[in-house]
This record gives sequence, structure tokens and C-alpha cells, in this order.
Amino acid sequence: MDIFEQKILEAKSMAELDGVRIEFFGKKGSVTQRFAELKNLEGEAKTELAKELSSLKAKFETLFAEKKTILQNQELAQALLSEKIDTSLFFTQAKRSVGHPINYTKDRIIEYFRNLDYDLCIGPLVEDDFHNFEALNLPVYHPARDMQDTFYFKDSMLLRTHTSPVQIRTMLAQKPPIKMICPGATFRRDYDLTHTPMFHQVEGLVVDCGSSANFANLKFTLENFLQYLFGDVKVRFRSSFFPFTEPSAEVDISCNFCGGSGCRVCSHTGWLEVLGCGVVDSRVFEAVGYEGVSGYAFGMGIERLAMLTCGVNDLRSFFETDLRVLEQF
Ligand code: PHE
Repeated sequence: MDIFEQKILEAKSMAELDGVRIEFFGKKGSVTQRFAELKNLEGEAKTELAKELSSLKAKFETLFAEKKTILQNQELAQALLSEKIDTSLFFTQAKRSVGHPINYTKDRIIEYFRNLDYDLCIGPLVEDDFHNFEALNLPVYHPARDMQDTFYFKDSMLLRTHTSPVQIRTMLAQKPPIKMICPGATFRRDYDLTHTPMFHQVEGLVVDCGSSANFANLKFTLENFLQYLFGDVKVRFRSSFFPFTEPSAEVDISCNFCGGSGCRVCSHTGWLEVLGCGVVDSRVFEAVGYEGVSGYAFGMGIERLAMLTCGVNDLRSFFETDLRVLEQF
């Protein structure tokens, strides 16, 4: 066994192994010094020594490389052991969230109607007068336009005041039958405890050839939907007015906070208004060039539904991006 072989075997760390290399092959190493002797030799003796030294060097390099691999693997295994991360510990501490209540509520609504094969449609936030008002039976100077305080741009462009223009866009782009919902942001010049200038709606529209899309279907659809969203609540249809539907109704559910006996949330009426709906007015069909069809539509405010289903009592907290609020969901 060569002199360095034992030392290589005994080295317990990379530092020790490197110590062996320096001892024999470093600048002042014992083997390095013997290489220096070569210049004093000649002939056979020189060749002999050169042979001996180079085979020594080759042997050292092989042993050194082998040991290096072994030591590096040992050091890696040790590091992995001492720096081990318990990922299951981290998992139990992680906070899980359903996301923002508005998105969560919107997704629940979409999921319900997608399961019934409604198409998901979207439309522009900046609308023109035709799609937002005119085609929805709200001609210029119609008093019903007063119901909606509108943000106007130049050239009678505006921020849509409801998602109903998407009904018009969808009917103009497609042929009946139509079954669609449209979620999205809407805008009105309102700002107080229960109104923000930007809010969200989901619109629904069903159009069928013939007379089958009637009020009875609308009622059945919305009753089932509201029970999906709120659980076991009573649903009531109250006659109302929208220019684009006739007949029209507003829909109430029995208050899910007091069970209908009356509380602060329902202003002691036992009922909560949750959406507007109706049978599509024939003038709307005229505006999009539909004939011989029937249809119904409904629209709801997502913020209101989110407040009622998630138990949030201040509308503004939805838009304040306060993590303490969001962390509760
Ligand atoms: N667009 C109406 C609103 O914003 C809601 C609605 C939609 C009513 C569809 C009836 C039918 O108040």
C-alpha cells in the first residue's frame, strides 16, 4: 500500500482529504518534491523515476476522486437530515381562504347556472346609449332613465349602469334559443352606506322559439336558485316595473337572519329583496329583430347577495382591501 493510501482511507471530511492532497501533491508536497529530482537525473534512472511518479500520481488521483464522492455524499446526507423541513407542519399553519366574498358569491352563482347549461357571456364596461338604454325600451327622454344615474363620456358613451346591455349584445350576435348569464361590474353615480359607484351584477336571459319561456318557468328557475344560494328560505314575487320586462317582479326571500320574524337586517319586515326579473318586453325583441319568440330575464346585485350569504354588514368593507376582513373567509 502506498503511503497516501492509508491516509485517504482515514480522511473523515473533505477538509481532511484536501489535507492529504496538500501533504503529497501540494506545492511543497513530498511527491511534488520528488518530481523536482527528475532534473538532476539522466538516462534510465530518469525514465524509471518518471514512470514511478506518474503511476503514483495516477493512483492518487483515482483514490482521491473516489473518496471525494463518498465524502460529498455523506456531507449531503447529513445536511439533508439536519436541515429537514416538515412540510406537514407548515400545512397545518397555512390559512385557507375561499377568496374575496364577491368573487366567491359570483362563482357560486355562475356554477349554478353553468350546471343548467347557461352560456357565460361578457360585455364591455363602456357602453353606448343604444345597448344600455335604447334597445332596452328606454328611449331618450323616457322618464325611467331617471332611475339610473349614469356616468357619461363624450359622444353619448357611458359606463354601463347594469348588465342588461349584454342581453342585447348576445341577442344581436346569436339566434334563439338563448340561455345565458353575464356577471360583471356596473356603475352608477351613488355613494352612501348601501351604494358604491362600482358594483357587480349577474344578468340572466332565456329566449325560446314559441311561447315556452314564460313567467312560470322564470318563477321555477329563481325559486330553485335562491334555495340553492340561501338554503331553506321562502321566496316571494312582488309585482314591479322595469322598462325591458312586462310583467316585471322584484323577488324577496324570507330573512335568513331572523327566519322571517323581523330584525334589523330586514328592517323588521321579515323579507329581503334580492333580485329583479320579468318576461322580456316585446319592444326589446323588436329592437334586436327577433320574431315569434318568448323570453325571461333576471338581474341581481352580487354585493347584496354576498352581504346576505357571508354575513357582511358594511358594503364598503368589500372594497377597502383590508386583510383583516378578507382573512375571515
Ligand atoms: N337591469 C335591472 C337593474 O339593474 C335588473 C333586471 C334585469 C331586471 C333583468 C329585470 C330583468 O335594476
